[in-house]
This record gives sequence, C-alpha cells and structure tokens, in this order.
Amino acid sequence: MKNLNDLIEEAKSELKNARDAGALKMTEIRWLGRKGKLTDVLRNIKDLPEKERRAAGGAANRAKQEITNAIRDRQGELRNSSRASDLRRNRIDVTLPGRKKAAGHVHPLTKALLEIRAIFERLGFSTVDGPEIETEWYNFDALNIPADHPARDMWDTFWLKPALPKNERLLLRTHTSPVQVRYIEKHAPPYRIIVPGTVYRYEATDASHDAEFHQVEGLMVEPVSPAGGRGISVANFKHVIRHFFSEYFGGRDLRVSLRPSFFPFTEPSFEVMISCIQCKQRGCAVCKRTGWLEVAGAGMVHPNVFKNAGLNPKGLAGFAFGFGVERLAMMKYKIPDIRLFHSADPRFLRQF
Ligand code: FA5
Repeated sequence: MKNLNDLIEEAKSELKNARDAGALKMTEIRWLGRKGKLTDVLRNIKDLPEKERRAAGGAANRAKQEITNAIRDRQGELRNSSRASDLRRNRIDVTLPGRKKAAGHVHPLTKALLEIRAIFERLGFSTVDGPEIETEWYNFDALNIPADHPARDMWDTFWLKPALPKNERLLLRTHTSPVQVRYIEKHAPPYRIIVPGTVYRYEATDASHDAEFHQVEGLMVEPVSPAGGRGISVANFKHVIRHFFSEYFGGRDLRVSLRPSFFPFTEPSFEVMISCIQCKQRGCAVCKRTGWLEVAGAGMVHPNVFKNAGLNPKGLAGFAFGFGVERLAMMKYKIPDIRLFHSADPRFLRQF
C-alpha cells in the first residue's frame, strides 16, 4: 500500500512536468501502457499469497483510477492554457484603423494636367494637341524664328536624322507653341484653346530642369470687328492667368506680375511671375530669396505668326502663353526635385 501511494505521487509529479499533449501521452504510456509501471504492479498481483491478493487488487485498481483521473485533469489544464495562449496570440484589436488596400491611381503629373484642363475648360477653352515629332518650320520658322536668329539658342534641340537627304529636318518639339500655328491654319478665329503636351530639350538636368517635360500652351484670339469684336488685350490675359493660378493653387492669395521679356512669336512678351507660395514672399530656396517665381512665358501674338499660318493679321488680336506643368506641380506639392517625376519610385508616387 505504501509503495502504491509513492507510485501515485511519483506519477502525479511527472504529470505536472508534462508541458504539452505529446509529453502527456508519453507519461500515460510510461504508467498505464502495456509495459507501464502500474500495469507491472497489476500484473504481479496474481503472484501474491491468496489472502493479500484481494486487498492489493482493490488498492491497485484505485491507484490506476487515481492516475487515470490525474491524467484527464492534466489534459484539461493543458487544453485550457493552450486555448488561452491562442487567444492571446490571435487577439484582434477592433479599435485599430483598417489596412488600406493598395489601389492604382494617377501619376502626379497626370493629376496636375487634369486639374489644369478642368480650370481652362470652365473658362471656355478647348483642349487640342499636336505632334511631338515636329518639322523645323512649325517649331521655329513659322513662329518667327528664322534659322540664323540667335533666339533659336533659347531652345536646345534634339534633331532627328532625316529619312531622305532632301527631306525637311525633323526634331522633337522644344515647346508646345508650334500647335498654335497648326491650329490657326485649320480654324477660323476666334480661338480659345489650350495645348497640354510633352516637350524635349537637349539640356543638362538639375533640380528644376529636365530634358523631357510638359507644357501647357494657351491661345486666345478674337477679331476686332464692326460687329462688336474688340480683340483680346493684355488686360484679358492678366485676368485669365490670375484666375487660373488662384484656382490651381486653391484660391490662395496670389500675386501675379508680368515682366518684360522676349519671344520672337509675341510682341510685347512677358515673363509671368507669381508670388512664392512656399514662403509667402518672405524669401526661401524655391524663389531664390526673391519672393517671386517665373512660371510661364507669354505675350501678344506676333502678326508674323498669323501671316505664317495663312491669315491676314490685320484686325486680329490675342495672347498666347506657355507654362511648365512640372514647375506648377512642384510648387503645389512642395516637390524639391523635378527628376522625381520620372524616377518611378513608389515611395514618391504613393503620396499622391
Ligand atoms: C517657351 O517654351 C515658350 N514657348 C513659351 C511661350 C508660349 C511664350 C507662348 C510666349 C507665347 P520657355 O522656354 O521659357 O518658353 O519655357 C516655358 C516654361 O517651361 C518655363 O517658364 C518653365 O516653367 C518651363 N521649362 C522650361 N525649360 C524647362 C526644363 N528644362 N524643365 C522643366 N521645365 C522647363
């Protein structure tokens, strides 16, 4: 009997050390299996003298029962604690914000172009386009920039090899202005168009210059006519461009200033300056501490442009402008380097 009690204690302490279902099974086999310690005891009872056999049998069976119960208890304990740790591990914090599903979206430049287009379309401008591979005539000569004119150097050009020796030289357009001429050739005034598009320049890149970038050209012309057409003046231009910038930059208090400039295809010509949005004219790196940023070239359409497009310039008056889309988007979103647009870096793109 004493031995049996010791065995029960021993079995119980082994059970306490069984840390998982596998260890528990092994302990059960060690005690109750075919060659188990208690099975051995039960088997030996038949060799005891007859008068002891009965009592010993009863005690051994009770011991077996007790160990069986202890095993079942330990099983329950292990099951509970593994469920508790499962719950702890798989706990769901319902107060956490949900995970955003990654969805495709437009490139920041496309976004800028769409916004620009929408603003001008609300003003009655229609959007047209033209070829990126241009002839020398449309890109330069028709815009009053003859071959030997020093103004050609304003635009560093990518020339294409001509298909045939005598063919006209082709190039990648250096600005969207050639579309003015193409459009005037095919349509009668009045004109109210914008031309968004890619342009190319053979120049070294830096934080604000790329070799491939985007411009939006604008052209607004009306005939001066006895029927009431008064032509389009610089005042009209200032109003349109001021309206555009204040819409694009979200109605912020914006100053627009026209400075004298030179383009062969406009007379007079202006540089369009806007007050620096980043520093509110206090002076920062973006505006090079001047408080002003140059965002577009513009002017009143030169009579030679109408002439070169086949129109009589007499009685026609209007403005044209061209601005850099990247530069506008850089200002709006505080992008420090123009080359990020083409970097395809998802860390940059994901922000838009
Ligand atoms: C022109 O290209 C003229 N065609 C604009 C024009 C149109 C004047 C109609 C008059 C009438 P300009 O070279 O300054 O002008 O370029 C216009 C704008 O394009 C600049 O103000 C600037 O915003 C942007 N830009 C010019 N070069 C680059 C470049 N390398 N990278 C990015 N943006 C540029």
